[in-house]
Amino acid sequence: MSALIVVGTQWGDEGKGKVTDFLAARADVVVRYQGGNNAGHTVVANGRELKLHLIPSGILYPGKPCLIGNGVVIDPEVLIEEIKQLKSQGINTDFLRISPRAHLILPYHRRLDLYEEKQKGSKKIGTTCCGIGPTYADKTSRAGIRVADLIDPEEFKFRLKYVLEEKNRLLISIYGAEGFDYTELMEAYSKYAEILKPYVADVSVIINTALDEGKKILFEGAQGTLLDLDHGTYPFVTSSHPIAGAACIGAGIGPTRINRVVGIAKAYVTRVGEGPFPTELTDAMGEKIRECGNEYGTTTGRPRRCGWYDSVVARYAARINGLDFLAITKLDVLSGLKTVKICSSYRYKGETLKNFPASLKVLSECEPVYEEMPGWQDDISNVRNYGDLPAEARSYLERLASLSGVPIVIVGVGMQREQTIIIHDVMPAC
Ligand code: IMP
Repeated sequence: MSALIVVGTQWGDEGKGKVTDFLAARADVVVRYQGGNNAGHTVVANGRELKLHLIPSGILYPGKPCLIGNGVVIDPEVLIEEIKQLKSQGINTDFLRISPRAHLILPYHRRLDLYEEKQKGSKKIGTTCCGIGPTYADKTSRAGIRVADLIDPEEFKFRLKYVLEEKNRLLISIYGAEGFDYTELMEAYSKYAEILKPYVADVSVIINTALDEGKKILFEGAQGTLLDLDHGTYPFVTSSHPIAGAACIGAGIGPTRINRVVGIAKAYVTRVGEGPFPTELTDAMGEKIRECGNEYGTTTGRPRRCGWYDSVVARYAARINGLDFLAITKLDVLSGLKTVKICSSYRYKGETLKNFPASLKVLSECEPVYEEMPGWQDDISNVRNYGDLPAEARSYLERLASLSGVPIVIVGVGMQREQTIIIHDVMPAC
């Protein structure tokens, strides 16, 4: 058996799509276990750029089962649209399966997300407004509606009626917004149910059976460690658990079945939405990285905040996720800089902080302590062997690994699938 989890080690957008797409080629089954269509993976394959929000990147490999676990929140409209788009590009979706235990994002969740953000004013989270928070809140408060309910007409009728009354009250009386018509929603969602029904299957059974048969499973995390509801920069986080431990809950497997965890980190750091970001560059260098790295959100198109690599964050992610390996993406974006910086520690009120702080107030007052290294001038986008990288790029990577405390096994040097340097093949070896 072998099960490998891929997680983001920063604030999301680490380039997980490319690495998971690469690893998916070697996996037998690919699984998503948390988040929803707030995620956006851009995969470039065979000269085609595909944007996936919900469906695991393994879908690009014909015949490979791609599973959406119970921990994911599913917006049926978005999922159906994504299936349609893939089909129109000749990509087979017959092997997609969704858990009946996954919760549904319904239109009132999206509207509530929008109004809750508006009401927060300057204290807003900067959510993707996809309805993620309100859906997970309903799940926790036991007011959610699941895929199993959607495909059972009687159950859906009953649950929607009961929940919608309360949501409409909230939307109309508290937010002064429009509510939703029960009959219209019933009509639309009955159609969605028919479309999605053939895809519904017990994902936990499929995964555990595949593991029993010695198959390789790839768990594809969305977002990043610092957006985790418990371990991230709360409240500027998402409402799910992007960390490795969540794969067990969100897919229905036991922790003893996990073999390896690979963390993905950009060669620098980006963040979208609000919240403290110690190594943020608000100057021309930040702008340069944003333009060179095309740092604009896949889901919302928002410009991403950019900053230097933060090894305090990396060490924290290594601890929380139990990282075995690191994959560094977008190293090519830093080419041409005279020098590059790595944050090795934080200074807080004159003291060196060893661990990533829990308090946002403390974090926002931390000053990054930098190590500065010579940059490299060559274009590295065609390099495929580690030894062929310029010496300065190798020194940079070696310092990242040493400060992060995790060996680097994969290095990305461009958007294309093949623009990847493999130092150690993690999938067959596990
Ligand atoms: P939500 O997940 O839409 O509720 O947004 C909460 C926070 O997580 C916001 O700061 C978003 O910008 C951030 N976020 C959610 N999904 C992603 C992602 O896939 N990449 C980066 N940031 C994300």
